[in-house]
Amino acid sequence: MRVCLIGCGNIGKSLAVYIDENMFGTDLVGLFDKNREKSIRLKKKLKRLKPHVAYSIEELLMFKPELVIEAASQEAVRDYAERILDESDLMILSVGALTTYKLYQTLLKKAKEKKRKIYIPSGAILGVDGVKSGSVGKIEEVTLTTIKNPKSMEQTLYLSKKGVDLGQIRKRTILYEGYAEEAVKYFPKNVNVAATLSYAGIGPQKTKVRIVVDPDVKENIHEIYVKGDFGELLTRAKNVPSPQNPRTSYLAVLSAIRTLRKISEPVDVGT
Ligand SMILES: NC(=O)c1ccc[n+]([C@@H]2O[C@H](COP(=O)([O-])OP(=O)(O)OC[C@H]3O[C@@H](n4cnc5c(N)ncnc54)[C@H](O)[C@@H]3O)[C@@H](O)[C@H]2O)c1
Repeated sequence: MRVCLIGCGNIGKSLAVYIDENMFGTDLVGLFDKNREKSIRLKKKLKRLKPHVAYSIEELLMFKPELVIEAASQEAVRDYAERILDESDLMILSVGALTTYKLYQTLLKKAKEKKRKIYIPSGAILGVDGVKSGSVGKIEEVTLTTIKNPKSMEQTLYLSKKGVDLGQIRKRTILYEGYAEEAVKYFPKNVNVAATLSYAGIGPQKTKVRIVVDPDVKENIHEIYVKGDFGELLTRAKNVPSPQNPRTSYLAVLSAIRTLRKISEPVDVGT
């Protein structure tokens, strides 16, 4: 499989190095990062593969990828995703970009028209398989509860307007309860998990989100509760940060690698 990568930061680098060292049937043919130095640095790090470094998305697509992996930013998804689907399948990491239904619908339409696949890894949450299976039947409730240390949260405009000062929180406190579609506007750093869970199940308008801070927790915790015809599901992921970037959960990096393997391996276990 011919793969191109957009974004040579934490996740992109981990993916490229993994492909280089472990996936001998996969060829990384192109790299694109708006910071060109990062693409060049990553290319030098690779031992087996010799990807081209592209100046633009158009140049990247000239290397004829079968799969483009976006590991860059929401802006990259908004600017390039539709164009990429003209030429190739696409794996999206900055899935928070899809919380606007309009972009999601546009990409869905393009993917159908061009017979392309869009892959969205589970990221830092557990239970996406169960949510997907369960939502074939009737689902009553999907709730994501994110629990973080106040120091790991951003003092957003929403919190300031509510008079919440994260620096003053001394006990477990619920900062927000509402639906994913709204939550991602107030807490832009929590968008990826909320968007992934929404599209695995019942959509951003019906998926509930609760954001909690607790000075006694060190890790980023994501709990998922689902109730439906199938019964109930409860998962808890206690995430450690990835070694290269404390803002990214290590499980999210591993999940991107595993999704790539799923695409290229003959057996696909799980929903
Ligand atoms: N799905 C998930 O569960 C999950 C988990 C963690 C991170 N993410 C998302 O994945 C993305 C990458 O994360 P990361 O930790 O590797 O970030 P990072 O900041 O380490 O790397 C991102 C790289 O992309 C480049 N870039 C950004 N916008 C670009 C554009 N428009 N065109 C070309 N290059 C561009 C940057 O220069 C940078 O080198 C982020 O959007 C992040 O929110 C998703």
